[in-house]
Amino acid sequence: MIAVQVQSPSAYSVHGPHSPQARRIDSLGDAMYLTSAVVFAVVVAALFWATLRRRRVEEPSDDRRERSMRTGVIVATAATTIILFVFLILDLSVGRAITTNPGPEALQVRVTGHQWWWEIQYRDSLPQNWATTANEIHVPVGRPVLFELRSTDVIHSLWPPNLNGKRDLIPGNENSIWFQADSAGVYRGQCAEFCGHQHAKMAFLIVAEPPDSFSAWLVRQRDTAMTPTDSVALRGQEVFLSSSCVMCHAIGGTPAGSRIGPDLTHLASRRTIAAGTLPNTRGNLAGWIVNPQAIKPGVRMPSTRLDSDDLQALLTYLETLE
Ligand code: CUA
Repeated sequence: MIAVQVQSPSAYSVHGPHSPQARRIDSLGDAMYLTSAVVFAVVVAALFWATLRRRRVEEPSDDRRERSMRTGVIVATAATTIILFVFLILDLSVGRAITTNPGPEALQVRVTGHQWWWEIQYRDSLPQNWATTANEIHVPVGRPVLFELRSTDVIHSLWPPNLNGKRDLIPGNENSIWFQADSAGVYRGQCAEFCGHQHAKMAFLIVAEPPDSFSAWLVRQRDTAMTPTDSVALRGQEVFLSSSCVMCHAIGGTPAGSRIGPDLTHLASRRTIAAGTLPNTRGNLAGWIVNPQAIKPGVRMPSTRLDSDDLQALLTYLETLE
């Protein structure tokens, strides 16, 4: 199994842009920080100048003082107005550039927010070609990707800082966001709207890869799970289908078809479990199945009581779901 989280610290930062959209936001932010720094320096310098000057120079006449104060106020007000107006224009133009729809060549991905995980669906004109996964969004490099955003419970917000700004997922209201990743990598994203107890543990990964690898990945995701040939894994499948797992999860190619929790058809191909909370390792998976409430208190997933042999068999089965 792969236990990679993110490639580098810049893989979760607005200052490490990897899309034209994020670059515009980053540049606007830089211009704002720089301007604020200059304004701050000018104000502090003016303050020092005024303080020291008072001590050295004799008090000017009331008339002169009045005039110079008026000039100062007019200049400062004009400068403030111009700066704010320039930023208003820049802000609107960046907003327009990042929200204008990308055109029909964009790949469409449906993202549904749940407390506290992300359902990801790649749709197709043929329903048998749909692929459903969770918490890990794969995108091809160099192609616009349009995300249709929905929520089944409360308001969430999709925020992949390296690739674009935030956009809310609102129950009963469709929303969208798009970006075009321009370099391959694994980027972290986070729910950015407080959505309950485990809001902080509602993360996701965006895996941007070359178009060929992306297409190969998508073809694999459309496959249903193979019936295990190994006897332990086969026993694990029986455990899965006879325990409470089956009430919430789907595994393509088996009778398990519930959509309450994440689709597990390709669980073993994902890098993390519990919405980016833990690397997807056998040990973490065991802990998660036995006592998810200890890892993510309040999560909808109940604890599953299994004897040791059944748990090991179940883990072996889940590891075959690539
Ligand atoms: Cu979902 Cu915060």
